[in-house]
Amino acid sequence: MCGIFGYIGPNNVVETTIKGLKKLEYRGYDSSGIAGIHDGKMLYNKQVGKISKMEAEVEQEGLELDIAIAQTRWATHGSPSRENAHPHFNNGQTLALVHNGIIENHSALRDMLLKKGVVFHSETDTEVIVHLISDLYRGDLLKAVMAALPLLKGSYALALIHRDYPDQIIGVSHESPLAVGIGIGEMFLASDLHAFTGSAREVIFLDSGEVAVVKKDGYEIYDSMMSPVSKESRELIGKAEEVTRGKFEHYTLKEIFEQPQALRSALSARCIDEYGTAKFDSLDIEMSELLGVKRIIILACGTSYYAGFIGEYMLEEIARIPTQVEISSEYRYKNPIIPNGTLVIAISQSGETADTLAAFRELKAKGATVIAICNVHDSSIAREADSCLYLRAGIEIGVCSTKAFTSQVAVISLFTLLLARMRHLSRDDGQVFLDQLKKVPDHVDAVLQQADAIQALAKKYAQCENFFYLGRRYMYPGAMEGALKLKEIAYINANGYPAGEMKHGPIALINQDCPTVALTGDQYTYEKILSNLMEVKARQGPVIAIAEEGSEGIEEIADDIIWIPSTRDEFSVIPATVACQLFAYYVALERGTEIDQPRNLAKSVTVE
Ligand code: F6R
Repeated sequence: MCGIFGYIGPNNVVETTIKGLKKLEYRGYDSSGIAGIHDGKMLYNKQVGKISKMEAEVEQEGLELDIAIAQTRWATHGSPSRENAHPHFNNGQTLALVHNGIIENHSALRDMLLKKGVVFHSETDTEVIVHLISDLYRGDLLKAVMAALPLLKGSYALALIHRDYPDQIIGVSHESPLAVGIGIGEMFLASDLHAFTGSAREVIFLDSGEVAVVKKDGYEIYDSMMSPVSKESRELIGKAEEVTRGKFEHYTLKEIFEQPQALRSALSARCIDEYGTAKFDSLDIEMSELLGVKRIIILACGTSYYAGFIGEYMLEEIARIPTQVEISSEYRYKNPIIPNGTLVIAISQSGETADTLAAFRELKAKGATVIAICNVHDSSIAREADSCLYLRAGIEIGVCSTKAFTSQVAVISLFTLLLARMRHLSRDDGQVFLDQLKKVPDHVDAVLQQADAIQALAKKYAQCENFFYLGRRYMYPGAMEGALKLKEIAYINANGYPAGEMKHGPIALINQDCPTVALTGDQYTYEKILSNLMEVKARQGPVIAIAEEGSEGIEEIADDIIWIPSTRDEFSVIPATVACQLFAYYVALERGTEIDQPRNLAKSVTVE
C-alpha cells in the first residue's frame, strides 16, 4: 500500500524524489518521509499527513541531498505518527530504510534485537529490518542485506542507503513489487511504474527475491544466492502522460465524467460486428483451449469483485459456463479443487492487489490458465497472467474506483460474448448483444447530463447516517458497488443487499431516517423488486429509485427517481452504478469529506 521511491542523479535530489513520491501518494497518505546523504551526513525529514506538508518543511529548512529514499505511508503497524513514519534508521543513524509490505515475524525479531541492546523508536514492523541489517553489517552492505533477507517472513519491497556507500541505493523485492527506473546518468527506484512518469526512460522489474544495487550510471541485480542476474530493460510506455484535474474539482469527478470515453476505448477494435463476436489482440490463448473451458473462477477484491460478480451472472447465463466469483483474500486460504478445463480470471484495476496476486499464483501453480483484466500496464498481475485484457481506461487517480469498474464490466461483457459465440450463441443474438453494448457509453452520457439533478437529490439526503442499496440479479452487485462508493467517500454506513433478503432480517433497520437506494433496472426481476420496495415503504423508509425510463409502477412507490436509459439487463448496471457514483460524490461534497484520498484508504492494496 505504501509508496517507496529512491533517486540518484544530477538533478535536484530532494525535488526529484518528492515529485516521484507524490505520484505514489494514492497508495497511502497518512505520513511521509525522506532521508538522504549529503556531505557524509545522513539527513532526513518526516511528517504526519500529506506529502505536501513534508515538502513545505523540507523547503523551509533548505534540505539538500546527494542521494535519497522516501516513503508515503499507509499505516499497518502503529498509528500515523512522526516516529512511525519511514524512513527508519539504525541506532547510529548510518543506515536508512523505507519499506512497503508487512514483516510477519517482526515480534520475534524485535525481541531478539532488544536482547542485543538495540533501541527501537517506533511501533512499526519495518524498524526490525533496519536494525537487523545493521546488526549483520561488517563493512559489506550487500552481504549484510543478503544475510538479513532469509530471516524476514512476509512481503516487502525495500530501498536503503548507508553512509559508507554515499553513491548507491539498494532495492529489494520480495512478493511486493519494486522497479528500477533508468534515465540518462540518473537512476530511480519505485514501488510503482507510475512514479517514473516524465522521468525514467526504461524500466526493469525485480522478480521476487531479487536485489538491485543502483548507482548513478548503472545497476547490478542479484538473486537470493547473491549471483548476478542479467535482465533486459523495457522502454516505458506512456512515460509522458501527466494527469491533471482539468476543470473538475476532484479527480474522482473527472474520472466519473471520463466514463463514456473509457468505455468506448474498452470496446474499441474489439467488436466484430459482422460475426456478432469479440476479439482481443492480447489474448494469447489457443481457441481450442477456450473451447475446452468447462469452469471459470473469477478472483478479485472490492469494486473489482463486484465487477467479477456481474461477470459471474453473465458468463453463466450467456456463455453457459459454470462460473464462481471469489473474494481473493478468502480464496487464497482455501485448498480448491481445480479440474482440467478451469479458467481463472483475475480482475484488478491496479494489478498489484496482494490478495488477488496470491490467490491467482496458487491457481497457476495448480495448472490453471489465468487471464487478467487490469488497467495498469506491466503491473504484477498483468505480467504474471497468461494473457491480460487491458481496460484502457487511462490512469485512475481517485482512490475510489469509478471508471475502472464500468470498463471492467465492458471487458467482461466482450469476453462473455467471445466464449458464448464459440459455443451456442447465434450470430444474430451476438449481434444484438454487441449492438446494445456499443450504446452503453451514450447511456452513461445520459446519466452524466443529470448531474445537477443528482446533486440536488444528494443534498436532500446528505444528513442521513444509514442507507440501504438494493438490487436483484445484475443489480445486486451494482447495489453493493453503489453502497461501497457511499461508504468510501462520504463515510456513511451503507449496506448493499439483494432486495429479496431484506425480509430475512435487515428490514428491522428500516425507518424514516434510513433511505433505500433501489437499482430497479433488472427487468427480469422488476416486479419482484417493486414488492420488496413496497415492504420498505410500509415501514416509512424513503426510497430513491434508479429506474429505467418507461418502468411502470415505480413512481407510485419511490420518493425520488433517477431515470436511466433502458437497455439489456446485463448492461443496465453500468448506467445505474454511474448514477450511484454521482450520488455518492455529491453527498461527500455536501458533507465536506476528503474525496480523492478518503481517510484510511489507499488505492493499491499491496498488503494482505
Ligand atoms: C473501491 C476500490 C477498492 C478496489 C480494491 C481492489 O473503490 O477501489 O475496493 O477495487 O482494493 O483493487 P484492484 O482493483 O486494484 O485489485
